[in-house]
Amino acid sequence: MKYSAELEETARLLSGANRGILAADESTGTIGKRLQSIKVENTETNRRDYRELLFATPGLGEYISGAILYDETIRQSSAGGQPFPELLNEQKIIPGIKVDTGARQLAGTREKITEGLDGLGDRLAQYHELGARFAKWRAVIEIGTDIPSRYCLETNAHALARYAALCQAAGIVPIVEPEVLMDGAHTIERCFDVTRRTLHIVFKALYDQDVVLENILLKPNMVISATDCPQQADVEAVARETVRCFRQVVPAAVPGIVFLSGGQSNELATAHLNAMNSIFADQLPWQLSFSYGRALQQPAIQAWQGAKDKIKSAQDALYHRARMNSLACSGAYSSDQEKAA
Ligand code: 13P
Repeated sequence: MKYSAELEETARLLSGANRGILAADESTGTIGKRLQSIKVENTETNRRDYRELLFATPGLGEYISGAILYDETIRQSSAGGQPFPELLNEQKIIPGIKVDTGARQLAGTREKITEGLDGLGDRLAQYHELGARFAKWRAVIEIGTDIPSRYCLETNAHALARYAALCQAAGIVPIVEPEVLMDGAHTIERCFDVTRRTLHIVFKALYDQDVVLENILLKPNMVISATDCPQQADVEAVARETVRCFRQVVPAAVPGIVFLSGGQSNELATAHLNAMNSIFADQLPWQLSFSYGRALQQPAIQAWQGAKDKIKSAQDALYHRARMNSLACSGAYSSDQEKAA
């Protein structure tokens, strides 16, 4: 693959200048669950209205650099008839697209493999036509007794690298997302080991398939205690262990690391990012930012409740979380700023 200055610039725009990515690429099934939580029916119009509310938030582009869309969403328009990619560009937000088709059982195991490679080259060309300049593919790695297996890690890494190479050939920046889940009761040490092994295998596959590292973004989990682990590592420990892990296995050529929130509470996801950027200010080769789904959207969807007269408070809630995470990109966040809202 040939290095592209344009793709590196896009990757830097997406992860730099204290901005981050809004992940709004929930599949129809997943967004259905979110809508159900506020008793709104999962119809195309309701999904459109909700996404329009998010994307049209006044000033969102100050803190949000890109938005990841789902196949249906990138083809939709606002109620007023403006295609979503155009609306986002007006907001100075780069449109992106989720291109995997989901994780399914890896044959003969209880682990998962992410699918979606068939016909991907053609789909990427079409998404580029529709305005997408970056893409996302998520591999799901579960920690449990005897898992993850090497087979699961290598198969997912191979698919991630094939996807990334196809994106670069299509003029699209691939977000490479190997997510080690925080479900379970494992310790932060176990998360460190599995994340390190996963990333090592992923970067080996990217190297083998000639993916240009300057032209990707990495979207990893943080190194963190599992949800049900009795000893929860504190914010500083999460920041230190995450950076220690990445220094060992993420090449300095990668322009940016944009974290997923993965089920962390909104404020903790912000505090962890902030701690990394404040403790390691100017000592890291990569820009450290966010690509949050739930940790950006939760307060907004709760404020909306499907009501027209609540759109403004929902947008205020999204804007606030985007601003807090933007502050975390420069280590300038503190919980006092939450109260000032
Ligand atoms: P969360 O931040 O809710 O984990 O979502 C980010 C994402 O895009 C997962 O693939």
